[in-house]
Amino acid sequence: MPDQVSEDVIEEIRKTNDIVDVIGEYIQLKKQGRNYFGLCPFHGEKTPSFSVTQEKQIFHCFGCGKGGNVLTFVMEMEQYTFYEALKFLADRSSVDLPDFSHQHKSSISQENQSILSASEWITKLYHHLLRYTKDGKAGYQYFNERGITDETIDVFQLGFAPNVKDFTAEFLQKKGFHQQILVKSGLLSLNEDNSITDRFRGRVMFPIRNHLGKTIAFGGRTISDQEPKYLNSPESELFQKGKILYNFDLAKKHIRNQSEAVLFEGYMDVISAYQAGVKNAVATLGTSLTSSQARLLRRYVDTVIICYDADKAGTEAAYKAAGLLQKAGCHVKIANMPDNMDPDDFITEYGTEAFQNQVIKSSLTFTNFYMRYLKKDYNLSLEGDRIQYIEKLLEYLATIESSVEREYYLKEVSDSYNVSMDSLKQEIQSNREKMGLGKDKINKNRYTNKVSDHEHVKKLLPAFHNAERQLLAYMLQDVSITDKVQEEIGASFNIEEHKVIATHLYAFYEEHQQADVSMFVEMLTDDRLKQLVTDIAMMPLHENISNDEINDYIRNIRAENNNKGDIQSLKEEQRRAEQQNDPIKAAGIAMQIIELQKQWKSIN
Ligand code: CTP
Ligand code: MN
Repeated sequence: MPDQVSEDVIEEIRKTNDIVDVIGEYIQLKKQGRNYFGLCPFHGEKTPSFSVTQEKQIFHCFGCGKGGNVLTFVMEMEQYTFYEALKFLADRSSVDLPDFSHQHKSSISQENQSILSASEWITKLYHHLLRYTKDGKAGYQYFNERGITDETIDVFQLGFAPNVKDFTAEFLQKKGFHQQILVKSGLLSLNEDNSITDRFRGRVMFPIRNHLGKTIAFGGRTISDQEPKYLNSPESELFQKGKILYNFDLAKKHIRNQSEAVLFEGYMDVISAYQAGVKNAVATLGTSLTSSQARLLRRYVDTVIICYDADKAGTEAAYKAAGLLQKAGCHVKIANMPDNMDPDDFITEYGTEAFQNQVIKSSLTFTNFYMRYLKKDYNLSLEGDRIQYIEKLLEYLATIESSVEREYYLKEVSDSYNVSMDSLKQEIQSNREKMGLGKDKINKNRYTNKVSDHEHVKKLLPAFHNAERQLLAYMLQDVSITDKVQEEIGASFNIEEHKVIATHLYAFYEEHQQADVSMFVEMLTDDRLKQLVTDIAMMPLHENISNDEINDYIRNIRAENNNKGDIQSLKEEQRRAEQQNDPIKAAGIAMQIIELQKQWKSIN
């Protein structure tokens, strides 16, 4: 629990940060009934089992069991401490949070804090030089010639690192940063003669920001013929190329609004696209797309448009990226880029509108792209190759589930290569049978049916156990039901955790006279209990519960209490009989116990 921040402030922060909005900044949430559902950010999954209720201001994942309120979510998601999560949400909703940071441990190491701070200084410095000084003029001219406007330069904080040995080194030293740390972060380089110099020299600079907009690394492009063309910061704890996407922080809200992301290969492609109005643009960082990046995108969107260079390497990379994205559950399209161009070239040459309409909006389906892509392995002017190509293509087309879609492409093959639809269909059918696809749709549903994820975790519980959960669910919503239960059974729940929850709840209502699940969760200190409470609070309830139903639950719980009591005393009797060396009596009692247990099993 927080020490110095007052309950009132915490509550204000909670109230001003709606859980659906906050979580909606991390995953795409879709409303279904009274709840919102999305893909759980805490465990890999393809069908949504993560749910959020606005009414109760809590979340719960039916897949991995994680749950809690808005603060728990931010702590888990950002790996923040409680205080950092409070600060994050307070900033988000402009609530004044008294500064207690000196009293709280940070989740980021001293060293990394120092690197972040130095990177922020350097971003500003390089940007300032480029925009306003003679020293950065060469960089400014470079962007100017590439058609990048001042406004875009500001948005991306583009900068220039002067071609001076120790310009940055001196600047940061004056600010009091340790050189060793700066070398480790890759802002400075340690040379063979042990001298320390600037890593980036005479380059235009692209700050690389994390999802929260903080600079964590840089990419620097030469403006002469220096090698390499692009120089990047080395990997570090803060900068893991395979886990972040360039421009994700700015693109995020556009990606969410459009339900679509456009994936590029280069910084300049993203920047040009952004300037051309394609703002849902992100890029990998000089490496191929990883499954972690694919999953990140999947949490936000259904569809990803791959917009890579239309050369051999780019097409190959697009094919690989498409595979990974599909595996993560994304619908993939491929931008319609003319041969041997990259997105930035295209925009420079044909302009904004052409890019939007002819390239992005005219994206190919993956199948269409694949039909072209596959041609690279065959010489289609040879009959033998042509047949092999068609056969290979049919193998792929056979995997398409929708028969309408299959026929659509078959028609294209039929027209292009003069093969009858009948024989193509026959071939597809036999392919499907070989692959075990076809009529059997039940199998497939197992993976697409949204309910299935919930079901596999819904264990078969004995009746008294369910009764306790149901009752607690109502108690979490309703003070008067809680009063009644307290009077009738107090804390005599049979399941230990339920007992603890009931006890806490009684205490909670003494203090707060009204139901508030999110706040109640906040009060609990044990993470497992927090999750159990959110799990229970997510259970569907009847709007107007009858007294009879409540009484039924109570009866059920009491009966189990009694049963446990009966068995308990029989067991004691049995032990006594054993001590008295009366095996026949002991065996008789054992039979009674088994009989009782059996009866209970059949009733429950
Ligand atoms: N890249 C890199 N190191 C290199 C070359 C490229 O890290 N030596 C990365 C950069 O992230 C770059 C991306 O790969 O943005 C794409 O490279 P490339 O297609 O060569 O560059 P362009 O995006 O076309 O860049 P420009 O238009 O500035 O030449
Ligand atoms: Mn380019």
